[in-house]
Amino acid sequence: MTERTFVMVKPDGVQRGLIGEIISRFEDRGLKLVGAKFMRIDQELAHDHYAEHEDKPFFDDLVDFITAGPVMAMVWEGQDATRQVRKMMGETDPAESDPGTIRGDFGLDLGRNVIHGSDHEDPGANEREIDLFFDEEELLDWDRIDETWLYE
Ligand code: RTP
Ligand code: MG
Repeated sequence: MTERTFVMVKPDGVQRGLIGEIISRFEDRGLKLVGAKFMRIDQELAHDHYAEHEDKPFFDDLVDFITAGPVMAMVWEGQDATRQVRKMMGETDPAESDPGTIRGDFGLDLGRNVIHGSDHEDPGANEREIDLFFDEEELLDWDRIDETWLYE
């Protein structure tokens, strides 16, 4: 069940110098980077990306935060990638996240949780978010040299 998932180091993670650490974790796990873009999210993209939260009281703060500085937007590919990335991220609230997860190791506050990953409980969210952030030609098909040793 190879799939692609959308992952983003949020502005707090970028400012705190965590891009490399986060990329390393996914690389070490065996996931394959197929697209990456260091970018600034504008208002329109922020509203589209977080459309599901439009009616929530925290929506304006969320948009302000995600547009406050550059983000590292990425697409990672692998077996069960969406769910595995979410497990590696931890819970939405870093305070509830286990040590060893990204949010559990690098965050303390719900509104500064370092990383975004597509919701595995929302079928199609990964493809929707990839389409929102990337054009097809920005995603690369390639083989990792260790792929035959990563999968049975
Ligand atoms: P994300 O979409 O950012 O990856 O986070 P998530 O799936 O773990 O959590 P989600 O429910 O989609 O919420 C999106 C972001 O909104 C902020 N939030 N604030 N004040 C609150 O009750 C509250 N709830 C959520 C979080 O920063 C969360 O990442
Ligand atoms: Mg979410």
